[in-house]
Parts: sequence; C-alpha cells; structure tokens
Amino acid sequence: MKIIKLKYLDHQDTGSLVFFESLKDIPFEIKRIYSIQGAKKGTHRGKHAHKNLKQFLFCPYGKIQVLLDDGYKKTEIILDHPQKGLLIETMIWRELVWLEDHSVLCVAASDYYDAEDYIRDYEEFKQTRKIR
Ligand code: TYD
Repeated sequence: MKIIKLKYLDHQDTGSLVFFESLKDIPFEIKRIYSIQGAKKGTHRGKHAHKNLKQFLFCPYGKIQVLLDDGYKKTEIILDHPQKGLLIETMIWRELVWLEDHSVLCVAASDYYDAEDYIRDYEEFKQTRKIR
C-alpha cells in the first residue's frame, strides 16, 4: 500500500485539475480504468483480493474509507481529497465503505478485467497468503 499525492492545479473560478500518468506517477502500465458513482452513504463494496492485479484508487468527489488487509496486518485509509491516491499491490484484501452520498471512486488497473483473478473468499485469501 502506498499513498501517492497527485498533481493538482487549482483555479478559483474554473475548478481544479488532477492528473497522473502511467509509469510516471504510478508504477504500472494502465490497461483499464473504471469508476463507481451514485452510491449512497453506508455502501460497502470490494470484499475481495486480486491475485495479480495492481490498482490505483482515488476519490475525486466525496469520502470513501478503504480497509486493507495483507493477511497479517489491517490498515485503514480515508480517501477524502482528489489529490490523494492509493496504490494497492497484488494479494491485498480490500473493503470499501462510502462515508458520504455520491462519493466517486476512480480506479486505474494494471490489467483487463478477469474474473479468475479475484479471490472472493476471505479464508481462501488467508490460506493463499500463507503459501505465497
Ligand atoms: P467488482 O469488482 O466485484 O466490484 P466491487 O468490488 O466494487 O463490488 O465488480 C462488480 C461486477 O462488475 C462484477 O460482476 C464484475 C463486473 N466488472 C466488470 O465486468 N468489469 C470491470 O472492469 C469491473 C471492475 C467489474
């Protein structure tokens, strides 16, 4: 897990601009980008780990709690500013909780969507971590 502070250009009248570049600001080549919007406060998502996928998360609007677990240690991160990016390496269990209505989650991923890359069972995740 790593917090990456994104570049930010603010303008009082026309809004702020946040940007990042593949292999420059984040340490992998981006193959997929997705976003989640329209979720209400209290929404829980995630509850899985990825075998090989790396992801970079940021929240351009609102407030989202991210709970990370490497099988040994649990960490909590709050994404509450567009500049605050979170790098999640492979084999990390994550849970996301929407702390404000309509918070937006944007994710840059290191690979195309692959259902086989998910571990959705926590016990399986813990076992897999032990033997890796
Ligand atoms: P999932 O990654 O489980 O979302 P979350 O953990 O935030 O609840 O994805 C939800 C559904 O969307 C699942 O059926 C897979 C599908 N999906 C895609 O088809 N492509 C994608 O890029 C993503 C992220 C999900």
